[in-house]
Amino acid sequence: MRRLLLWMAGNRWLRRRIPQFGFARKAVLRFMPGEDADSALRAAAQFKLQGISSALTRLGENVTRVEEADEVAAHYLELLERIAAKGLDAEISVKLTQLGLDLDSERTLAHVRRLAERAAAVRRTVWIDMEGSAYTESTIAFYERLRPTCANTGLCLQAYLRRTAADVERLMPLDPAIRVVKGAYAEPPAIAFQTRQEVDRSYVALSKAMLDAVCDGRRIRIALGTHDVRLIEEIAGYAAQLKLPQTSFEVQMLYGIRVDEQRRLAREGYPVRDLICYGAAWYPWYMRRLAERPANVIFALRQLLP
Ligand code: FDA
Repeated sequence: MRRLLLWMAGNRWLRRRIPQFGFARKAVLRFMPGEDADSALRAAAQFKLQGISSALTRLGENVTRVEEADEVAAHYLELLERIAAKGLDAEISVKLTQLGLDLDSERTLAHVRRLAERAAAVRRTVWIDMEGSAYTESTIAFYERLRPTCANTGLCLQAYLRRTAADVERLMPLDPAIRVVKGAYAEPPAIAFQTRQEVDRSYVALSKAMLDAVCDGRRIRIALGTHDVRLIEEIAGYAAQLKLPQTSFEVQMLYGIRVDEQRRLAREGYPVRDLICYGAAWYPWYMRRLAERPANVIFALRQLLP
């Protein structure tokens, strides 16, 4: 089921058809507050009342014209202004292929630099999502170029990739901000762990390596991007063993998933950030969410009922 859903995520014909169905548009609202930035900002304001910070992402990937990438960059610049004007504790999280990485990587770098400069002026961070393995090396190399002059930028790394432990080591000298996630794409066994146990083991090992580095004086910002509370608790236990404060890492979860746990962790004193996605281009992203938990397909199909 996971493989089928991930195949559907990449299928162009389905990408055009499925979003036209009302039941699919209704079902996706479980994972995003709406298609426009206003709804995301409203959701961020609600989270703030509960002591939960936010990160905002406008959905979309692999744009095919530079003008589209320029428009996305302009959108995020305006969004940063709106976040600051409303006093929200919100950051932004961007996909490089939505900012034109497939078309002109220098232009993409210029866009992200502009976003980071604007974000720095309003004391916010720009996160870079990690996409499929075709982009791993170019995304990491991109971050290596960006980070020395843009300290308010962070990068997502995927625990299912066998290379990630080496990538964490490689990035350490930059005192990076790293969001570690399990990984959401279909990747072959040659480059990615396939079983849940292996991925979980890798996730914990990466997180512990970063906490060890913090203990050794590195200034790494660690974000655990997962809904797996068992893993979060194991890593929190390790941080406590190292005598690091609860704020030595933050938890990031997606809008609509394990909201009760987001609130509980925030109440217990952990920094928690909810990643709020919005936008019309939700189809491939939504299919990846279904693939993470095929039981969600039943929820989607239920929307067909009156
Ligand atoms: P796991 O899938 O084991 O889930 C643990 C528990 O969480 C499940 O038992 C279930 O209860 C709940 N859960 C998880 N997913 C659910 C869902 N879709 N619906 C309902 N319940 C669900 N990936 C990537 O490749 N590149 C990226 O840039 C990012 N960015 C990112 C940011 C943030 C903040 C998060 C939380 C995640 C990502 N991801 C990502 C996605 C990530 O790779 C992964 O696919 C999902 O987080 C699901 O894995 P979990 O770690 O939650 O564990």
